Amino acid sequence: MPHFSYRDGEFCAEAVPLKDIASRFGTPTYVYSKQALTENFAAYADACERHARGADAALVCYSVKSNSNLAVLNLLAGMGSGFDIVSGGELLRVIAAGGDPRKVIFSGVGKSRDEMRLALEHDILCFNVESIPELHRLNEVAAGLGRKAPVSLRVNPNVDAKTHPYISTGLKDNKFGVAYEDTLATYRAAADLPHLDVVGIDCHIGSQLLDDAPLLEALDKVIELVDQLEALGIPLHHLDIGGGLGITYDKEAPVAAGDYLGRLFARINAWRDEKYQGKGIKVLFEPGRSIVGNAGLLLTEVQYLKHGATKNFAVVDAAMNDLMRPAMYEAWHGVKEVIQHSGDAAAVYDVVGPICESGDWLARARTLAIRDGDLLAIMSAGAYGMTMASNYNTRGRAAEVMVDGAQVHLVRQRENPADLFVLESLLP
Ligand code: LLP
Repeated sequence: MPHFSYRDGEFCAEAVPLKDIASRFGTPTYVYSKQALTENFAAYADACERHARGADAALVCYSVKSNSNLAVLNLLAGMGSGFDIVSGGELLRVIAAGGDPRKVIFSGVGKSRDEMRLALEHDILCFNVESIPELHRLNEVAAGLGRKAPVSLRVNPNVDAKTHPYISTGLKDNKFGVAYEDTLATYRAAADLPHLDVVGIDCHIGSQLLDDAPLLEALDKVIELVDQLEALGIPLHHLDIGGGLGITYDKEAPVAAGDYLGRLFARINAWRDEKYQGKGIKVLFEPGRSIVGNAGLLLTEVQYLKHGATKNFAVVDAAMNDLMRPAMYEAWHGVKEVIQHSGDAAAVYDVVGPICESGDWLARARTLAIRDGDLLAIMSAGAYGMTMASNYNTRGRAAEVMVDGAQVHLVRQRENPADLFVLESLLP
């Protein structure tokens, strides 16, 4: 069964008509499919099981920033997922959701001392370090706690991920990672610090990649470094290739996770056979979008149909504060009519929100047969939707629900506007 589909002219999430969700929980509401999440995670987990050598030889560390709802994290934790985090806040979410901190890797260019301390106290799997000053800070913080911090260096393989410049991260002039040519010297510096334990290497070249060729090219560069480090007496026991696989928003045809992992493990296994007598190396992945992106949509209600001088607008109750991607990247999201009115004339609309910015649009030039008060589903909104939402215009953030077959669970209440200024105070 497709996770989101029409049944008798009504658009449904699994077995639940979206109009029932709107009448029960209001709009705008993010709607997730449990089955979609489960299947998308299983595609990675099954491929790891098929191709990785040994029970502990691979770990999928779901990238929390793509969708950090506790119910999502809890579901994935139950399937054995690890987690890729970028803040102390995300670590606390993982723990609150029942995730295992020893399966957590901590990425990001700007970790604070407090965040390092928190992660060390919870005994996380690894810090993905991005610079020499960060190595020194981590060494100091670990010394203060009388511990050794497990570290990996994020290398910048200088591979063109061929994606949107805002989400491409593996090129020389990006702020991310250690420059490829500085890698060995940086590893030496790390190995000399007494409170660090050098355990791995990682990279992440960008997001929404449709082809796995750039990922395999990055893998080859990482493999070369692992060999060079081994020769220097710095053996590594894991390599982390990051996330980045894309999804279909419109007509894109991204490589399937299982196919990509099959090719990746074939290279890794051949390399280990040739150079290390078959001795394995643990492989980590950090996927986000390919697990949650198409497992969620944003349900919204048409407030007004407005006929401007040159365009028609469908003004809806969701806005750029709910789903930033169109405003920020000119991202394309599909729009579905929740109830199909057969026989109604269609017109071309820009779907826009109520916020006072021309950038506040969700979709442009879409042919829709709609009336005031109709519901629309903004598709492929499961990743980088709710996590990038803001309270701009003092708009409470949307509710989130997860559908499981014929059941709907509220997994985040709608924010109440009064809660939005509860932390503020008047001058004395
Ligand atoms: N690992 C690291 C170090 C990352 O920076 C990211 C995403 C991921 C893993 C997960 O990548 P994914 O599998 O989701 O492609 N807000 C943008 C996407 C930003 C991605 C940031 N890094 C968007 O809405 O398209």
